Amino acid sequence: MCGIVGYIGAQTSSTAQEVVLSGLERLEYRGYDSAGVAVLDGECVAMRKRAGRVADLRAVLAEEPLAQSPAAIGHTRWATHGIPSDRNSHPHLSADGRVAIVHNGIIENAPQLRNDLIAQGIEFASDTDSEVIAHMLGKAVAERGDLTQAMLGVVARLEGSFAVVATYAGQPDRLVGARRNSPLVVGLGDEENFFGSDVVAFVGRTKEAMAVGQDQIVTLTAHEVTVTDFAGNQAHAEKFSVDWNLETAMHDGYPTFMDKEIHEQPSAVAETLRGRTTPDGHLKLDELRIEEYELRAIDKIIVVACGTAAYAGHVAKYAIEHWCRIPVEVELAHEFRYRDPIVTSKTLVVAISQSGETMDTLMAVRHASEQGARVLAIVNTYASTIAREADAVLYTHAGPEIAVASTKAFTAQITATYLLGLYLAQLRGNKFVDEIAGYLEELHAMPQRMEFVLEQEEQIRELARTMAEVNSVLFLGRHVGFPIALEGALKLKELAYIHAEGFAAGELKHGPIALVEDDLPIFVIAPTPRRPLLHSKVMSNIHEVIARGARAIVIAEEGDSAVDDHATAIIRVPHSTPTLMMPLVTVIPLQIFASELASVKGFDVDKPRNLAKSVTVD
Ligand code: M6R
Repeated sequence: MCGIVGYIGAQTSSTAQEVVLSGLERLEYRGYDSAGVAVLDGECVAMRKRAGRVADLRAVLAEEPLAQSPAAIGHTRWATHGIPSDRNSHPHLSADGRVAIVHNGIIENAPQLRNDLIAQGIEFASDTDSEVIAHMLGKAVAERGDLTQAMLGVVARLEGSFAVVATYAGQPDRLVGARRNSPLVVGLGDEENFFGSDVVAFVGRTKEAMAVGQDQIVTLTAHEVTVTDFAGNQAHAEKFSVDWNLETAMHDGYPTFMDKEIHEQPSAVAETLRGRTTPDGHLKLDELRIEEYELRAIDKIIVVACGTAAYAGHVAKYAIEHWCRIPVEVELAHEFRYRDPIVTSKTLVVAISQSGETMDTLMAVRHASEQGARVLAIVNTYASTIAREADAVLYTHAGPEIAVASTKAFTAQITATYLLGLYLAQLRGNKFVDEIAGYLEELHAMPQRMEFVLEQEEQIRELARTMAEVNSVLFLGRHVGFPIALEGALKLKELAYIHAEGFAAGELKHGPIALVEDDLPIFVIAPTPRRPLLHSKVMSNIHEVIARGARAIVIAEEGDSAVDDHATAIIRVPHSTPTLMMPLVTVIPLQIFASELASVKGFDVDKPRNLAKSVTVD
């Protein structure tokens, strides 16, 4: 949560400020309750900061411009300590106004540090935990005369999580960053270098990047990057190239990032599948760094994830258990490490995360490793912390997901878990090569099937427009339709701010049916009629809710006429979609519906209230 950008160039110019502002605009998905920027201005640091969006900050800067500078730092905030307000916005300044910092994370010992500083006569200008860093750095740099040395002294006294970037008027040729448990990357440019919470901060200016490791300090000048550990020893930070470009981080003519990302799903799935088979039809997962004998010995899989990523795990459970006959548990990452889970060296923990930075999932990964499990990460963001700390990584190639509501990451995650399941089945001999090739063929057919559903977009949006006044929606599904019902409800809650709940359809009569009343909209995800037992059960559920006055909006296979006379509206998914592949198509109407309902209600589709894209605090 919170986005950080830093820029240092060889020249004093307006570039620094503009690079930081446009980086902040792209990072706004990480937090958007306030924003600020600081530049060097002679003997001091000057800054502008405001509650609100980066657009509000730009308006302030238009009226009160800052000086041109070789360096700038900026921040877009998701409040943890202190309400969103001008004074709590970042950057924060040292008492003498010569040091400014931006911070992402939580300083757990801030109250003690703050009391110490107050006792030394420091006056605080905000209610944040972060401001202690500015004052400590200000004092340390006054003593040591060097920002890197000062940072070394300060991080030794900080507890909690932090990615911090600092600028100091006494050394205008450098920025210094430090990282513990919060994300920070470096962009390596030509006569310019960057800090960012992720590569989106500097995408379009450089394709070369460096992942700042845990407990590392990085000193950036326009020409040089120096990395040390927290003891001051020279350290290594891994370089990587950024394959995301500016276009992938832009709206591209769609009204919102979410709409664009919904439409990018066929290609996200296709990209995630690309290059995974050998000429003789075998599945290969090159990135996996776990030995084959270890994968063969696995006797249990535990998926750890949060939110939408956890629902991808729920879908995966059906497929992996069916293909590999390995028990799969799916656990919310924040519950996992507090309940003494049974984890052995034969347990494969699969951490699913779009950002690769979700703190709860990261902590679950660490807990699993400590317990002796092998950890495999399914991650979208290259060189993210979870990707680096896991034993193995399988990347989804969905491209940057900017909208807070996860869409293309979800379908790409399901695809990646299916690749994993099929790979394990191949390795362990649960399935013959031709069977695996058959499943892969079906997976490769999914992008086209997804397009079929996307073609019904206008009908789905029209349906949403007729429901602007509803204040409760239920979602029902069985088998793989159940996690999709949960995901549909989550999308609606987070975007349209209304009561929405997903249920396993079989659970209806055990309580939830009491919620059904006249006109209540209920989305029902119908299984294919080619699974008659499952299908007939869901048909009964439809009858039960209609009999009680509900409106059934049914997502059904093409040609499934059983629903024709009962549904208020029908959204079709392509005929012959295998049951296990259904989630990749049935989720799309629910995403479109939530996006449209939010926009009809006048809400910000990409930046729903109270949320941030990447939950980097636990
Ligand atoms: O980056 P991650 O995939 O780890 O994020 C996990 C959840 O925070 C995320 O999926 C969240 O539930 C989405 N906002 C849902 O749309």
